[in-house]
Amino acid sequence: MSNKFPQIKKLIIPAAGWGTRFLPMTKIIPKELVPILNRPSIDLLVDEAIDSGIEEIILVISTRKQEIMKYFEPNILLENELKSKQKHELLKKIRKTNREAVIRVVYQYEQLGLGHAILVGAKFFNDEPFAVILGDDLIQSDVPVTKQLMNMYAKCGSSILGVQEVEENDLNKYGIIIPKLDEEKNNNFFEIKGAVEKPEIKNAPSNKAVLGRYIFNYSIVKHLEKKLKNLEEDKELDIVDTFADYMKEEKIFAYEFEGIRFDLGSIKGFALATIHYALKNEEIGGDIKSHILKLAKAMG
Ligand code: UTP
Repeated sequence: MSNKFPQIKKLIIPAAGWGTRFLPMTKIIPKELVPILNRPSIDLLVDEAIDSGIEEIILVISTRKQEIMKYFEPNILLENELKSKQKHELLKKIRKTNREAVIRVVYQYEQLGLGHAILVGAKFFNDEPFAVILGDDLIQSDVPVTKQLMNMYAKCGSSILGVQEVEENDLNKYGIIIPKLDEEKNNNFFEIKGAVEKPEIKNAPSNKAVLGRYIFNYSIVKHLEKKLKNLEEDKELDIVDTFADYMKEEKIFAYEFEGIRFDLGSIKGFALATIHYALKNEEIGGDIKSHILKLAKAMG
């Protein structure tokens, strides 16, 4: 593989949003700590980053979400307790949460939108490309999705949006991309000429939505800064808002990644993810499957 372009070593996980779709739970528990079986969902996203070869992860949180930071810190009392009881397997499990990759936690003091959260995280980088994983989007795939995007970056050196087709009824819930050439809209990797945030279904420019995975060249930062300066009162800075200016200088590509994606910000997505991971779990999968089959039969 070509190494013409810099390797992606840094990644931001914006996780500072209010999580209103998951109220009342998110009144006190960050949605990123809600477990998929016995692991907080953010732990699975950190795995994706590390399995992709990322060396430094910036978690952007709000001051109400300090428990996320605690999860990634060592718990010495618990470690000593497990050590004294010779519970080596459990010890390994909890040590895995204080990882080898550097994890930094930064605060986004005001929730000014995803674009702002990315800006807060990117301050720690120095003119180098970086990846972004959204805390809401859990994707189960053979090759980690971030790695899939990194492989494409190695070929083109341009910013890339991870996309997938969504149902027509859902087109008004996402950022929908506009392919540069109409005939390319069925390819899995192509240049875009824009994206529309939550279009009306009848006006959607394609059926491909941006779903929580990105690679950006560092030059996106100056566009975010410019937009932030002019941000209107009570408005959020979305990443899509910068694309028009950005594309005057650089290309953006869309890559249709492989994997099953769960929207953990919604109750339905979270329930589906739980069932999916439970069925795939070696220890409990069989029991869960027979329970679901029994229940489905009884329900007719
Ligand atoms: P969303 O707007 O989808 O998530 O942001 P939210 O605000 O947490 O949830 P709802 O819509 O109120 O239910 C997409 C991602 O951007 C992060 C969120 O944490 C989520 O991962 N985000 C959003 C921030 O980090 N900061 C923000 O100011 C806004």
